[in-house]
Amino acid sequence: MAKKPIILGIETSCDETAVSLIQDDEDGVPKILSNIISSQFDIHKEFGGVVPELAARSHVEKIDLIAKKAIKESGVSIDKISAIAATVGPGLIVCLTVGLNFGKAMASSLNLPFIGVNHLEGHALSPKLHTKLDFPYLLLLISGGHSQYLSVNGLGKYKRLGTTIDDALGEAFDKTAKLLGIEFPGGPKLEKFAEKGDPNKFKLPKPIINKGGCNLSFAGLKTSILKITKAIKTKQEKFDLAASFQKTIEEILYIKTKVAFEEFRNINSHDKSSFVVAGGVAANKGIRKKLVQVSNENNFQPIFPDLKLCGDNAAMIAMVGLEKYKLKKFDNLDLPASPRLPLDKNAKFLKGAGVEL
Ligand code: KG4
Ligand code: ZN
Repeated sequence: MAKKPIILGIETSCDETAVSLIQDDEDGVPKILSNIISSQFDIHKEFGGVVPELAARSHVEKIDLIAKKAIKESGVSIDKISAIAATVGPGLIVCLTVGLNFGKAMASSLNLPFIGVNHLEGHALSPKLHTKLDFPYLLLLISGGHSQYLSVNGLGKYKRLGTTIDDALGEAFDKTAKLLGIEFPGGPKLEKFAEKGDPNKFKLPKPIINKGGCNLSFAGLKTSILKITKAIKTKQEKFDLAASFQKTIEEILYIKTKVAFEEFRNINSHDKSSFVVAGGVAANKGIRKKLVQVSNENNFQPIFPDLKLCGDNAAMIAMVGLEKYKLKKFDNLDLPASPRLPLDKNAKFLKGAGVEL
């Protein structure tokens, strides 16, 4: 029987140092042998956001230890590894460089193929670590840096249907949390705040809700929240504002996802298609519930990564590495980090003011 490939994945694009080993399996869903993630929340929380130089320094300090731990936990001897995959972008260049160089050094010293992975493709393929999933499918990628609807047509084959024209959804959660006095990273904690509040207390705007196809916009929401926070005083009012924000986001995604379904169906003729929701914000329970509802109403099969695979991790990087390994898509050791790497290379850069929709 042919040997089932084992891929070691490395992720250091932002503030998580992560290494994972996965092994291919006959049923099409690989086995996660180890998945070590070391977060840097404590380093960055006093600054209210990620400080690139501190993040990079921490990656340098930890990567060796995390890799050793991941290999040990996997129970795999180092000579059984088939290839090394590392995130090449997008992300903070000083952080990407640490994982990329570590991965190249490992590949070179072990004489193994090296594979550069697009971090966003990692999120896109993350449910493949536990669910059999065929192309094409619709993807909603909602993370700290991105909010996009894409038709995923194959490995490396993406057509962007819509994107945010200003803030990413995770960014909107984090900024709102900050205005409510919640410690960084506020997204997950904001959800807890929202559970204690009245979602109908404050009426918040839904920018570009009836125009711009399935493009998204969250900046107007933040401005409105800023005004309200200046006027509110009690803790309960904060809970109410968090609940109103959470509800507004759910409603925006409900409406825009319906548009994305139509656009996806216009280019793909499948009856029952899969709808994957990935990225850090896909961990949000209220958003999951609303997107399951809109999927059921429109004959789409909703698929979410396991909670531990929503945020940044290296198993998703190894997953893309495995798919590329099977196609022998290897990279040279001079592959540079790409801080702005997109998924759909033909899509226009929409971010910024004055965008015509
Ligand atoms: O995918 P990710 O781990 O990193 C990026 O690639 O950006 O996403 C991180 C983002 C942060 O903005 C974080 O606040 C947000 O995901 N997030 C959440 C939740 N969990 C993480 N936002 C809302 N609700 C959550 N439960
Ligand atoms: Zn990410």
